[in-house]
Amino acid sequence: MKKSIIKSTGMFVPPNIITNHDLEKIIDTSDEWIQQRTGIEQRYWIDQDGATGASDLGFEASKIALKAADWTAQDIDFIIFATLSPDIMFPGSGCLLQAKLGLDSTPALDIRQQCTGFLYGLATADAYIKSGLANKILLVGGEVHSSGLDKTTRGRDITVIFGDGAGAVCIEGVETDEQAGVLSSALHADGNLAEALMTELPASRLPLRVPEGVPTDDARYYPVMDGPLIFKKALRMLPKVINESLEKAHISLDEIDLIIPHQANIRINQALGQFLKLDDNKVFHNIQKYGNTTAASIPMALHEAMEQNRIGASGDVVLFTGLGAGLTWGSVIYKFL
Ligand SMILES: CC(C)(COP(=O)(O)OP(=O)(O)OC[C@H]1O[C@@H](n2cnc3c(N)ncnc32)[C@H](O)[C@@H]1OP(=O)(O)O)[C@@H](O)C(=O)NCCC(=O)NCCS
Repeated sequence: MKKSIIKSTGMFVPPNIITNHDLEKIIDTSDEWIQQRTGIEQRYWIDQDGATGASDLGFEASKIALKAADWTAQDIDFIIFATLSPDIMFPGSGCLLQAKLGLDSTPALDIRQQCTGFLYGLATADAYIKSGLANKILLVGGEVHSSGLDKTTRGRDITVIFGDGAGAVCIEGVETDEQAGVLSSALHADGNLAEALMTELPASRLPLRVPEGVPTDDARYYPVMDGPLIFKKALRMLPKVINESLEKAHISLDEIDLIIPHQANIRINQALGQFLKLDDNKVFHNIQKYGNTTAASIPMALHEAMEQNRIGASGDVVLFTGLGAGLTWGSVIYKFL
């Protein structure tokens, strides 16, 4: 039977490092507050003078992943692009990335599942491979948050968290009897809590999606978040969905070599590790350097975990998990071939 095997990874962040001290200069915040509450020390933002979209960052990450897989762009038979910050309203960033790769007919699918975009993307790639619809898939998570953040004290709870970046993964269907590849996925959503984390405007549900008389710096043009609610939800739902994915894969938590959670807040991930009674080194963190890069955060963390030899040897088992806007949450278990 075909198994969905990760052949390679790549990641890319734009060149501008924004430290917490840089943010202190524009909003009422402090390095101490940000580090204590989130673990974040710095993040990367695109050059505010240029034009860089999620597909541009995704393109750079994809080139690295393609080279590492020894694939050319022509080898790809399906592109999945996860983002909440598409380059433009439409068409999707997957189409824009496809063109940048020099392709003109390869199918491209955008996934708008925010912080769980990569999990939804991985589960989709696995389903496409197992159903025979595709065999060599480029899965990308890419975000440009910085051009949409409220860089005033009003938006400080969110603005200090988000960073720009992209991660890419080449996934191939491989015929093998080994227990390997994507072992299970558990995905969920609760749209009743959409307002807990959202950007409301522009909105196609309004007679005028850019409403008249609303100033362009109105708070509704920026992301708003009920941080404490999301925090509590994450700690309630992630252990449940992790167990669900373990049951589906018929394996125990002891058999997981590394958990790569979405990087939203180091306190969430540390509390998750404590709740699951895991050693500290079993949960991967890189939020300190990148902040929350939403759909890019898990593939970027996977890339770094593999570079650091924390995971990736034959037989290693990694569990990806996360919760974010939607709300959406999920867990995917992967075993290296
Ligand atoms: C956002 C988050 C870091 C805020 O931390 P928190 O401990 O919950 O803080 P609160 O929102 O309760 O705010 C506490 C105080 O800090 C203030 N504050 C918020 N942001 C601040 C900042 N950047 N700098 C300084 N103070 C800040 C608040 O105004 C509040 O002040 P008050 O007590 O005078 O009203 C935290 O709630 C969080 O990480 N939530 C989950 C985020 C998440 O997972 N999102 C999903 C994926 S995107």
